[in-house]
Amino acid sequence: MTATPVLRLAALTRVHGSGPTAVHALKGVDLSVHAGEFVAVMGPSGSGKSTLLTLAGGLDTATGGQVLVEGHDLGALSRARLAKIRRTSVGYVFQDYNLIPALTAAENIALPRELDGVAARTARREALAALDEIGLSELADRFPDEMSGGQQQRVAIARALVGERRLVLADEPTGALDSETGEAVLALLRRRCDEGAAVVLVTHESRYAAWADRVVFLRDGTIVDQTAAGSAETLLAGGGTR
Ligand SMILES: Nc1ncnc2c1ncn2[C@@H]1O[C@H](COP(=O)(O)OP(=O)(O)O)[C@@H](O)[C@H]1O
Ligand SMILES: [Mg+2]
Repeated sequence: MTATPVLRLAALTRVHGSGPTAVHALKGVDLSVHAGEFVAVMGPSGSGKSTLLTLAGGLDTATGGQVLVEGHDLGALSRARLAKIRRTSVGYVFQDYNLIPALTAAENIALPRELDGVAARTARREALAALDEIGLSELADRFPDEMSGGQQQRVAIARALVGERRLVLADEPTGALDSETGEAVLALLRRRCDEGAAVVLVTHESRYAAWADRVVFLRDGTIVDQTAAGSAETLLAGGGTR
C-alpha cells in the first residue's frame, strides 16, 4: 500500500476568460508529491507555473480536474474547511514576500497561528523559535521596511513553515536574492522537506532546482518532462528545456 500523497493534481485545468480570448493556463496536469519529496517546477514565462502553485495552495479554483491535499479534494470543500486547510496544512511563499508592513517579523510569523486559534503567547514563542532556526533572532521586533530583501524573504519562509505545515509551496522565492541568500533559502526548504514536508518550488534557476529530488518542466500549460535530480543536471546542462 502506498501512502496518500501530500499533494495530488489530477487532470488539472485552468482556463482564464472564455471565448476566443480564453487563456488555457493549465491543460490537464497530473502530479503527485509525497511527504519528504522536493519537486522543482521549471518552464518559460507564461507556461503556467504560478497557476499550478496557486491552485495547489487553494488560492485559485480549477476549471477542471482535481487538487487533493492530504487526500482532501479542495474543490469539494466548504469555504470554511478550505480556509482551515490553507492555514494549517499549506505554507505559501510568494515571490514578493507579502509580509504585513505594520507588523514586526515575529508578529508576521505568529499571525497565521493566532488566526488558527493558537494562544498569542504560544504563537509568539513559536515565531521566536522559527526565527532562531533561520538565524534571524535579532530581527524579531523589526518591521519589514527595516529588513533587507533576503531577510524579509527568510521571515516569509519562517511564516510558511511555522506550525508543522505538510505542504510548502514557493513561487520563485529567490527571485530578488543574491546567490548566497538564495542558497540559504533553499537549504531551509530542503531541511523542512527532509523533516517530512512535501515541497514544490517554482524556479527558473537550475542551481536552485538542483536541490530538488525531481524536476518537472512545464510548457504551454502541460508537463513536458519529469526527471530525477541526477538526470536533471544533464538535461539542464543541455539547455534544451527551460
Ligand atoms: N488572472 C489571469 N487572467 C488571465 N490570464 C491569466 C491570469 N493569470 C495567468 N494568466 C495567463 O495564464 C498563463 C500562465 O500564467 P502563469 O501561471 O502566471 O505563468 P508562469 O508563472 O509560468 O509565468 C499566461 O498566459 C498568463 O498570461
Ligand atoms: Mg509565475
